Amino acid sequence: MPLELVQGDIAAERTCAVVTAANKELVGGGGVDGAIHRAAGPDLLRAIRQIGGTPTGTAVITPAFRLAAQGVRFVIHAVGPIWRGGQAGEAELLAGAYRQSLELAARRGCDSVALPSISTGVYGYPLPQAAGVALREIHAFLESHPQMRVRLVLYGPEALQVFQGVQDRLEG
Ligand code: APR
Repeated sequence: MPLELVQGDIAAERTCAVVTAANKELVGGGGVDGAIHRAAGPDLLRAIRQIGGTPTGTAVITPAFRLAAQGVRFVIHAVGPIWRGGQAGEAELLAGAYRQSLELAARRGCDSVALPSISTGVYGYPLPQAAGVALREIHAFLESHPQMRVRLVLYGPEALQVFQGVQDRLEG
């Protein structure tokens, strides 16, 4: 099964690429980004500072530094939108963040990638809407990359339940 929905800490993943939810200044933050930076070590911050920034709705890729110890080769820094009520192009921007992350992983030859629920923490994107965007984008990607294993790593039981519900509706 190329798409797996799991509950857990994305910093413990062993996939070829791990995606973090960054900001467009790429300065390193809390939430999922804090967990990944703690696990990857300070070289990760130095690497993204050299890149400097990336627009909302895009993603950039760096080495995984200390996460290599658990088999991770790349960290992908995806910038989702801040939720402003839904009429400010949020869905397209969130879709872009997922699409670019998946494409970067594929372009580097990865056969597995773990993603968090981008924008649904500090950035306030409502979980059910975000799940719809994320799952549609992942399904579209898997049609052209059936060999890729995609793991959506959700932090709490509620997030997993919401994503699972949306996934069931999309399949049914
Ligand atoms: N593993 C998986 N998911 C996690 C983890 C973790 N270790 N920690 C938090 N999450 C979940 C949150 O519960 C939320 O559903 O990741 C989702 C995204 O939350 P945030 O990390 O707050 O990301 P986002 O909403 O995209 O906000 C980005 O936060 O850390 C700053 O610099 C970052 O400014 C940027 C903003």
